[in-house]
Amino acid sequence: MSNTLNEKLLHHGQIISDVLKSAIEAEAGTGAPQRLLDAMCYATLNGGKRLRPFLLVETAALFGRNDRGVLRAAAALECIHSYSLVHDDLPALDNDDLRRGKKTTHIAFDEETAILVGDALQTLAFDLLTDEHVHTDPAIRLKLVAGLAKAAGASGMVGGQVLDIAAEGRRGEASPPQSETSIKSMQAMKTGALLRFACTAGVILAGGSPDDEMRFEKFGSTIGLAFQLADDILDRTSDAAALGKEAGKDAAAGKATLVDFMGLKTAKAHLTAQINEAHDLLKPYGPAADTLRQTASFIANRTS
Ligand code: IPE
Ligand code: IPE
Ligand code: MG
Ligand code: MG
Ligand code: MG
Repeated sequence: MSNTLNEKLLHHGQIISDVLKSAIEAEAGTGAPQRLLDAMCYATLNGGKRLRPFLLVETAALFGRNDRGVLRAAAALECIHSYSLVHDDLPALDNDDLRRGKKTTHIAFDEETAILVGDALQTLAFDLLTDEHVHTDPAIRLKLVAGLAKAAGASGMVGGQVLDIAAEGRRGEASPPQSETSIKSMQAMKTGALLRFACTAGVILAGGSPDDEMRFEKFGSTIGLAFQLADDILDRTSDAAALGKEAGKDAAAGKATLVDFMGLKTAKAHLTAQINEAHDLLKPYGPAADTLRQTASFIANRTS
């Protein structure tokens, strides 16, 4: 990863944290319980890579928009992502104690609070998206609200999480047969949908053409698959100190992953192919898309 991209990610991450912090703090004095707000801050202001909001902001910038409305949309997406992590870590799902280098929210607070933090972050996301600074045209805001709802919901992230858990074959039921296609389609939902939204929302916010929107939908799908592949490879090859979350959990839990299905070597080759495809999709945009190109490479080369 180039230093420049590293610096950009850090700088952008701080800006997103500031937007999230003020959005959560704005709820104080409205009747929102302080303990809930504290837990929402804990779950969001804790050193995530902020990759989804970064992609949204960089895509919008490529098409000529760079203002605080874009940042609010980006923060909305990070709310959904952070909520998905809080729920993913719950005992009923992946049962993890460590996230972003700290205790998971249900350990630092309690399980009830963690469930409700997820709920509150999800509604905060839609609240943020309706802000008129996001776009002057309410029809565009509505399009983004609908797009994020689909990406996060039953045919997107949540549906993918259900398939992920089902593939473990818990409670003695037979796990559905896994194929490369079924694993990829589960991953396109649980991880790909939010990354796809990041990329298409940037185009929509900046008034890109329908062709651009289609191309960035493909770009989002491609890096989405790459992202989960890298996550699954890191789970197999890295450790908690580097990742900020426990490693070696997927095989132990019997998760359906491409690493498990095709082996580490083939999975790594697959990851490289996905990144090459993502780079190809950016060709029409020339050097202006360099940051997005580097971000795609970062997804494959990241160590956390
Ligand atoms: C982790 O996402 C969950 C997956 C979709 C694999 P990230 O690796 O982007 O997590 P943070 O936000 O940086 O903590
Ligand atoms: C989680 O996938 C995807 C989500 C929708 C949160 P994982 O369960 O592999 O994510 P980590 O490894 O816990 O971050
Ligand atoms: Mg999981
Ligand atoms: Mg998990
Ligand atoms: Mg994982």
